[in-house]
Amino acid sequence: MTLPEGHPLRDGRTTHSPLIAAYRSQVPSRQPVWFMRQAGRSLPEYRALRRGVSMLDSCLRPDLAAEITLQPVRRHDTDAAIFFSDIVIPLKLAGVDVDIVPGVGPVLSEPIRTLAQVRALPELTDSAFEPIREAVRLTVAELGSTPLIGFAGAPFTVAAYMVEGRPSRDHLGPRTMMHSAPEAWDALAHWAARASGAFLRAQVEAGASAVQLFDSWAGSLGLEDYRQRVAPASALAFDAVRELDVPRVHFGTGTSELLPAMLEAGADVMGIDYRLPLDEANRRLGGRTPLQGNIDPAYLEAPWEVLEAHVREVLKRGSAAPGHVLNLGHGVPPETDPSVLSRIVELAHSLEPGSAHRDPGVEP
Ligand code: CP3
Repeated sequence: MTLPEGHPLRDGRTTHSPLIAAYRSQVPSRQPVWFMRQAGRSLPEYRALRRGVSMLDSCLRPDLAAEITLQPVRRHDTDAAIFFSDIVIPLKLAGVDVDIVPGVGPVLSEPIRTLAQVRALPELTDSAFEPIREAVRLTVAELGSTPLIGFAGAPFTVAAYMVEGRPSRDHLGPRTMMHSAPEAWDALAHWAARASGAFLRAQVEAGASAVQLFDSWAGSLGLEDYRQRVAPASALAFDAVRELDVPRVHFGTGTSELLPAMLEAGADVMGIDYRLPLDEANRRLGGRTPLQGNIDPAYLEAPWEVLEAHVREVLKRGSAAPGHVLNLGHGVPPETDPSVLSRIVELAHSLEPGSAHRDPGVEP
């Protein structure tokens, strides 16, 4: 199975974009930059569109999801759009009773804790993803040469919500289940992997030029638990798009110690949170993997001079890697002044990718 005819990476629309070039360790025509959670509450135009519409409904209305996805690209001139959706959308489409409670996050009416409950989970049908494919088609038709990034939650992060039934701080529920009920855990992680894999695949087939798997809560895991109980399921989710040959980004937070294991799970690019400088991440990963990150969101409210120095430092350290896409080290906080994000994009685009940050006395 290859990309369908008319896909932006097949007809060449996005093939030479700065994002795809950096993801493929090629020299981009300008420094690519986008922001996790770039669509959302920091934008007044988003808040206006969302008025009176629930989060999940806005994800499942293709016209709304497409428009919200496009808003930050128009405003900031980012080098990618990230599809507006949520990691629990596949659960919702499968028929699981889940909602996103404002200010809280995903909440399930029935937490999944036993093997019997896992076995009773509905399997997703491909047709369930039609609203997603339609939203992606509408978005890509407007984006032209700017790539759309599709995404899904990694099995651990999705299963953490399913086991706890709501957000939690230390994810003790899923981490306990791995050891107290390993068969139930593995079955749940594999269910979540099939759901997230199908979600990624629907987005790529409809026109996404890259994918990102968010394992936001993997940082709560020890390395051995990650390798044995989590990485195989994440690999399965990535496998769903392997033969489509789009760049695959793997991102988590608090994952400095897990980076090599996360790379082995099947990523082409590693997303790095704000805790680890990019040159050190590059060293830990063996120097062969393009990186994405990692402006600390805590700098977004600092005076511009302080933020600018930080962004330049991130770019300098990122130039150690074979490719670097500038991003935050986690999502845009809702209270962020969006003009600050536009200014970061302007700064990144004004600098020559990679070389401008090398020591002027040293030839590459
Ligand atoms: O990055 C983007 O712009 C694309 C959209 C996107 C959303 N969720 C939209 C959203 C993405 C990539 C996600 C992924 C997601 N969802 C993750 C992984 C990324 C991360 O931030 O670590 C996680 C853990 C979730 C689960 C989730 N959904 C949480 C914790 C929340 C916040 C709850 C709140 O109100 O504070 C959501 C809701 C959500 N998903 C919002 C958005 C824009 C906020 C809803 C709103 O605007 O009312």
